Amino acid sequence: MTSIAVVPGSFDPVTLGHLDVIARAANVFEEVHVVVVHNPDKSAMIPISRRVALIERAIADAVPNGRIIVRSWSMGLLVDYCTDVGAKVIVKGIRGAADVDYETPMAIVNRHLGRIETIFMMPNPQHAHVSSSLVRQVAALGGDVSPYVPPVVHEFLQGDADTTITALGSPE
Ligand code: PNS
Repeated sequence: MTSIAVVPGSFDPVTLGHLDVIARAANVFEEVHVVVVHNPDKSAMIPISRRVALIERAIADAVPNGRIIVRSWSMGLLVDYCTDVGAKVIVKGIRGAADVDYETPMAIVNRHLGRIETIFMMPNPQHAHVSSSLVRQVAALGGDVSPYVPPVVHEFLQGDADTTITALGSPE
């Protein structure tokens, strides 16, 4: 039986910390599904279809090994996606204590709802301070986010590449 893990998140946008966790998951599981989910608690910057395209491009550049599938999910509970694809495990990155506090209730609820276990992985400490919300804020104020995001996201956020936008598909 193929071991499948789901790496879910808002990915608004995907960061180098996310890619680090995705690569670690791909080293452990035979198949990894990166699932972009709308989080109603957060106001989104990038349309979901673009986030999917950015992750696909970033993975093609940075995580060559491993079977990685990128999808969005808007049909309800994340555990339903996991069950649909036969995944028994969700993988989340933990940068520190605040992430443990944030992730623990979700992990327990997902176990109750769908018998899906959550495995926490520690990203490289060099990414410990990187978050999508920080990237959104720095980008909105014209700062340089290139140390925190893959090159394709940096180009996209700079908005200097109509070609990038064309290549990534039309907005929702
Ligand atoms: O990157 P985020 O915003 O912290 O990711 C949170 C996310 C999207 C993984 C979480 O909100 C989620 O799983 N949403 C799907 C709806 C769901 O299943 N909710 C109940 C369990 S948390």
